[in-house]
Amino acid sequence: MHIEPASAKLGAIVTDVDMTRMSEEEWRRLYQAWLDHLVLVVRDQEFTIPQFLAVAERFGRLLPHVVKRTRHPEYSALTQMGLNTRKADGAIDKSVFARGQGWHTDGPWDTRGVCKATQLYGLEIPSVGGDTWFANMYASFEALPDTLKQRLEGVRAEYVYGGSARRGADLLDPADRDAPPVVWPVIRTHPETGRRSLYINPTHFLRFVDMSEEDGKALLEDLLARLIQPDAEYHHRWRKHDYVIWDNRCSNHAAAGGYPIEERRIHWRATIME
Ligand SMILES: [Fe+2]
Repeated sequence: MHIEPASAKLGAIVTDVDMTRMSEEEWRRLYQAWLDHLVLVVRDQEFTIPQFLAVAERFGRLLPHVVKRTRHPEYSALTQMGLNTRKADGAIDKSVFARGQGWHTDGPWDTRGVCKATQLYGLEIPSVGGDTWFANMYASFEALPDTLKQRLEGVRAEYVYGGSARRGADLLDPADRDAPPVVWPVIRTHPETGRRSLYINPTHFLRFVDMSEEDGKALLEDLLARLIQPDAEYHHRWRKHDYVIWDNRCSNHAAAGGYPIEERRIHWRATIME
């Protein structure tokens, strides 16, 4: 198994390993590399669905995504991305192509537990575009001025699916749309590395706790301007049979879009909880 950094401050590319039959020693190295690099890209994996889900379970507890229409009919923990791109009348459903755009972490709104990681497996990759972008939130925290770090001590924010605009909430069952907000500190300490990161999530943000709307708006704008450190980004160009896993506790990601809508972009996805 070979592991090398994907960029200066984020991501690692892993080759020469079959994730379905790793030794204990390889697994320990892989897991540590994931904690160190936040995003792992493992090339050339050949997974069946049960194998893909078994790999996920080594990282944590599997949980079916709250959006039901993209769940695999037999394997509820498997979300199929990029299918159902057409409406009932056969027209292309453009909303499918906009999904996941904008910087975010997965599951800050999830009332069922802490969303540790997300893993994707590339089955069909468009000829251009469709990249996934990642950003290191430890680096974003470290780049904050000391005065702002002090100001953010104890500041917390509320999250709901789709944020204050409830973007995409129509995908949820009506009962799930009324889930109460989930509260997170803006400075989050990673339970395994002990490192602190900036945890702010533009897509699912609702409001800061105990803060006026005016102050909250100004603070959010300030933090969003600091969220992405250009030297701590990794842009992943997909290859077929890439396996990618990221840590939602210390990174943000965004779908870049920009691929031809007549082409297919198919991924398997699994949500992994602490
Ligand atoms: Fe996402």
